[in-house]
This record gives sequence, C-alpha cells and structure tokens, in this order.
Amino acid sequence: MIRVAVVGIGRMGGKHARNFCKGAVGNARLVAVCDTDAKVCETFAAKHADVAVYTDLDKMLSETPLDAVVVATPHYSHSAIAKKALEKGISVLVEKPITVTVKDALALVDVAKAHPEAIFAIMYNQRSNSIYARAKKIIESGKLGDLQRASFTVTDWYRTQYYYNMGGWRASWSGEGGGTLINQCVHQLDILQWLLGMPEKIISRCKTAGRNITTENDVTALFLYKDFDCVFTASTHELPGENRFVIVGSKGTLVITRHKAVCKFLKMDEKEVNARATRDYGNRKDKKYVKKRMYYGIGNYLTDALYGQQCNILRDFAAAVEKKDASLLRARGEEGLNALNIINAINASAWTGHTVDVPVDPEKYEKMLAEKIESEKKTK
Ligand SMILES: NC(=O)c1ccc[n+]([C@@H]2O[C@H](COP(=O)([O-])OP(=O)(O)OC[C@H]3O[C@@H](n4cnc5c(N)ncnc54)[C@H](O)[C@@H]3O)[C@@H](O)[C@H]2O)c1
Repeated sequence: MIRVAVVGIGRMGGKHARNFCKGAVGNARLVAVCDTDAKVCETFAAKHADVAVYTDLDKMLSETPLDAVVVATPHYSHSAIAKKALEKGISVLVEKPITVTVKDALALVDVAKAHPEAIFAIMYNQRSNSIYARAKKIIESGKLGDLQRASFTVTDWYRTQYYYNMGGWRASWSGEGGGTLINQCVHQLDILQWLLGMPEKIISRCKTAGRNITTENDVTALFLYKDFDCVFTASTHELPGENRFVIVGSKGTLVITRHKAVCKFLKMDEKEVNARATRDYGNRKDKKYVKKRMYYGIGNYLTDALYGQQCNILRDFAAAVEKKDASLLRARGEEGLNALNIINAINASAWTGHTVDVPVDPEKYEKMLAEKIESEKKTK
C-alpha cells in the first residue's frame, strides 16, 4: 500500500482525495492533504479525521512519510510544488498542464531526471479513452497510409461567466497563464501530438468572445507538419459545440467524435487508385473501402460516472509507484512538455501575427507572457 498526499483540494484535487478515501485506487492510502486555504482544510478535516491536513507544504513534506504526491493547484504553482516533492525522492503526479511556460517545465523535468528513484507522471486522463489509444495503433500500423491532412475541432467544452468568476485565477494571464488553450485544450493538444507527432510550425488567431475575461476562449490555428497540415479549432463559448478529430491518410480516414469513431480503410492506396484510373473520377471498384466503427463502451461510461476518467490515471500512477515501473504510466511527466510547447507557440503566433517555429524560444516566450501580464494589470 503506498502513502499518498494531495496538494490543492479544490474542485479537482478534492475529487482525487475522495477517490483515494473511498478506496477507488486499491493500492493507495491518502495519508495527508495540503491546501493554502484554511477554510478548505477545515471542511476537509471535518469529514476525514484519519487524514493529516496541512496549510504548509514544507511542514507536510517534513512531517509525513510519503511515497507519492498528487499536485492539483492552479498552474503557476505546479512546478515549485512538484520540485519540492521530487527533490525528496517522492513520486509526483502533476495535474495538467505541466506548468505554464516551457522554460519552467524544462527546469521541472531536469529535477525529475535527477531523481530517477521517483516516478513523475502527468494527469492526461483523455489518454485513457480507448478510442484514442486504438486510433494511435491504427496510425502506427500504417493502415491509414501516408498522413495527408487532419483537423481537430473542440467546441463542446462550454464554460460560462459563472465558471470564470468561481476562481480568481481562471482565464487570466497572471492567474493561470492563459485561457481555453492551457486549461481545456491541453487535453486535446496532448492527444493530437500523441497521434500525429509534433508540428514544425504554427500560425494562429486567438480571440475573446462573449465573456469578461482577459485571455482567449476562441482559437483557430494551422499546424504545419513536414508532409501535411492540421487545422485546430477550439472554443468554450458556443452551443451545442462539437468534438471531431478527422485524420486522413492515403489509405484511409478516421473520424473520431466524442465517444465513437468511424474508420474507412481503402482497399487500395489512393496513389494506386490514381495510377490505375481509366476514367476521370477513378475506377469505381478501385475506390472501395471497408467501414469499421469503434465505441467508447458502456463499462467506461459507468466507471467515469462513478469515479471520473481521472481515476484511471490515479490507478496507473499508484501501480507505477508501487512497482517502481514508469512503463505502467499512460503519460510520463516529461510528455507534458509537448502540448505546452504547442500552446506557447499558438499564443506566440497570435500575439505576433507571424508563423512561429515549434518550439518557440523559451526565453522570448517568458518575456512576451510577462508583457501580457503587465498589460492585463492595466485593464483591471
Ligand atoms: N484533469 C482534469 O480533467 C482537470 C479538471 C479540472 C481541473 N484540473 C486541473 O486541476 C488543477 C486545479 O484546478 P481546480 O479546478 O481544482 O482549481 P480550484 O481553484 O478549484 O482548486 C485549487 C485549490 O488549490 C489550492 N491552492 C492554491 N495554491 C496552492 C498552493 N500553492 N499550495 C496548496 N494549495 C494551493 C486552492 O486553495 C484551491 O483549494 C489545475 O491544474 C487544473 O487545470 C484538471
């Protein structure tokens, strides 16, 4: 049985703590929590007498023997908290995003590398959606042929002004280092890079629509790869919204929607269809394909409803810590760098109006973000 602490027991950290307490993560016991808000601590302590409650992280780390810490605080604090735990050889599962800037994330990854005795993981719960995992296998098997284009539209993570007002840190450059991209889209951008790899360049436009916030909640970006392009569209202000990832290869197409996917596998690569064509629109028999469907599965709906999709990652993490085996993780901590590199690049392109390289220069990005924070202060 491993001994776990959760740092930050608000909306998400509170859910992680409850999952540990109700035994949803079989081999882990919640022994401590830490939150800088004394009221939050009081409420938690009233319900969980057997868990040590702290408002001071250093005190918790020095007083309570721990095998692992789950970090679920606002984004800017992720790296400092994670580093403190890793430096003591304690394993860390950090909530997404790994942190706000690539410069800060690289420093955190360095600390993790210096402490191989500790497992370092990131909460990318969308990776436990088996449709994405199966899509990744299909692409890697070559069944889609050469990738030709992709598009990912994510406009179904609706957020109201009420949501933004709930926590002072939300949707501000100073509070969370961004808006929709760093908070919601980080999940899909991780999936996108997991399936397609990292783009070489990005051009983007970001807007604020219909909400009193200082960051973006509407994004259109073009990701340039060596041999194909991908259009990424995201918003958190429209209804009903959609979630649609289309991946087109020379031998097939995948259309992944929220909980299902339709795959069309051509009998023949398009290049061959074209080479054999004896009529203007191609020979009908050469264009034949097999259609297959993939579903999320009732079991997954049920476990998500009971514990939340995040619990899958808590379980993998606890198993990895117990067995000291990072290969049991769905996402290692350092993989958090990839989506963050994409997010920093989308912002940099939107701010400068230029096509930018991925990765963007981490120092330049720090400066641009600092300017955003300064100009945000003037609007408040
Ligand atoms: N994986 C997911 O699906 C998912 C969903 C929601 C939120 N999150 C992530 O969880 C994290 C927290 O988000 P939330 O919605 O729970 O926020 P929240 O504001 O509800 O909770 C954050 C908590 O952290 C505490 N806190 C702040 N700074 C702290 C510090 N330095 N040390 C200890 N405690 C501190 C606050 O008092 C608060 O109780 C963020 O990284 C967010 O992106 C992940």
